[in-house]
Amino acid sequence: MSNALRREILVAMQIVLLALLSVASASAQATQLEKPPMADEVFKNIQVLKGMPADQLAPSMQFVNASLGVQCDFCHVPNAMDKDDKKPKKIARQMMEMMFAINKDNFNGSRMVTCYSCHRGAIRPVGTPIIDEAKMTGGAMSMPMPKQPEGEPAQPSGPAAEELIEKYVKALGGAKAIDAVTSRVATGTIDFGGVSYPIDVYSKDPDMRASFVHMPDGDNITSFNGQEGWLGAPHRPTRDMHGSDIDGASIDADLHFATHLKAMFRQVETEGTEKVGDHDAYSVVGKREGKPPLRLYFDEQSGLLLRLVRYGETPLGLLPTQVDYADYRDLNGVKVPFRWTLARPSGQFTIQAKDMKENVAVDVAKFAKPAGAPEGPGKR
Ligand code: HEC
Ligand code: HEC
Repeated sequence: MSNALRREILVAMQIVLLALLSVASASAQATQLEKPPMADEVFKNIQVLKGMPADQLAPSMQFVNASLGVQCDFCHVPNAMDKDDKKPKKIARQMMEMMFAINKDNFNGSRMVTCYSCHRGAIRPVGTPIIDEAKMTGGAMSMPMPKQPEGEPAQPSGPAAEELIEKYVKALGGAKAIDAVTSRVATGTIDFGGVSYPIDVYSKDPDMRASFVHMPDGDNITSFNGQEGWLGAPHRPTRDMHGSDIDGASIDADLHFATHLKAMFRQVETEGTEKVGDHDAYSVVGKREGKPPLRLYFDEQSGLLLRLVRYGETPLGLLPTQVDYADYRDLNGVKVPFRWTLARPSGQFTIQAKDMKENVAVDVAKFAKPAGAPEGPGKR
């Protein structure tokens, strides 16, 4: 079996697992609308993560995977996640207790130490400093977890964040031109590290977005209607988006993200400079009300946005998603990235647009809930 194929199967298995988890939490949610169901009400054997909303269980588990550089079966018996047969699962429970205690006793209960602080992508933390620098970044992760965005900014350096945002808007073509865009349709390819498929992406005001990945056995659909979102795949039940998925989808769907940026933040600060690929970039952290922060990287030369990092909230720590923008081209007086790479600790994909059209009519039906397996063959 080729590596690419093996990776694809792994990704598919994870998607199925996560879909199962979400369906479990979604059906419990439907019966009890006021209070979101807690993990211990939905799952069979929760001893430590009690009182956490059930829809945070899946991202918490992904956080653990990323922190230790392992897959789910390191701790779990496949298809019987509630069983405690594997030793690492029992140790992981103790570790969760320990982590909460460290933070409670030493950091006033704020989440400063996480699984990743010690493990850094390895099963066994290293307690002795390593001399070989190349080995210090080792570990099984495909992407380093970015620094914690919650702490106080170190020594702010570079232009003020507000100025960088203004420069970004100007570099794109100006607020007027950006706000004149009401829809965008892109066609191209999506690449999962070696395997690629055709993709169409539709965006439309206000905040609607849908992508259709044309796989051999049918379309993989991600749709967001401005408030709710769904993930649909052939032969599988449609899964609802939750929490940070919805936050991410609404950012991706916003055709006027650049001109909305300032209003999004209750506090925004330049952190310093960092390399993004070959480019020197200013990094800016924006804190939002009731949502995890965003980290933005602006090209020092062009002023364009090179990278956006957003975070999913879990009780164990923040789970990062990194989006890199490249191949900016001019479209009706507005610069648009024709390539974007979305990376999570669990893997990444790149979308390369070949063709883009703006301000064309897009049927709102594209953004509706996709028909899933249980509902039988449906219309798209
Ligand atoms: C390092 C060990 C570890 C890894 C890796 C891990 N888990 Fe867990 N998982 C746990 C522990 C510990 C619990 C129980 C938490 C508690 O008691 O509060 C748990 C609980 C669960 C439960 C609840 C089961 C039930 O019904 O009680 C599910 C579902 C689950 N994990 C899924 C996953 C998935 C999916 C992955 C991979 C994305 C994963 N886990 C990766 C340690 C792990
Ligand atoms: C303060 C540091 C620290 C934190 C925080 C921490 N761990 Fe650990 N963990 C360790 C050390 C050290 C070991 C190795 C013990 C050994 O070598 O026997 C370990 C071992 C483990 C093991 C056993 C690995 C094996 O050998 O099979 C698991 C599983 C584990 N940790 C999960 C977690 C999870 C999940 C979290 C977050 C909830 C976490 N750890 C947080 C320090 C930490």
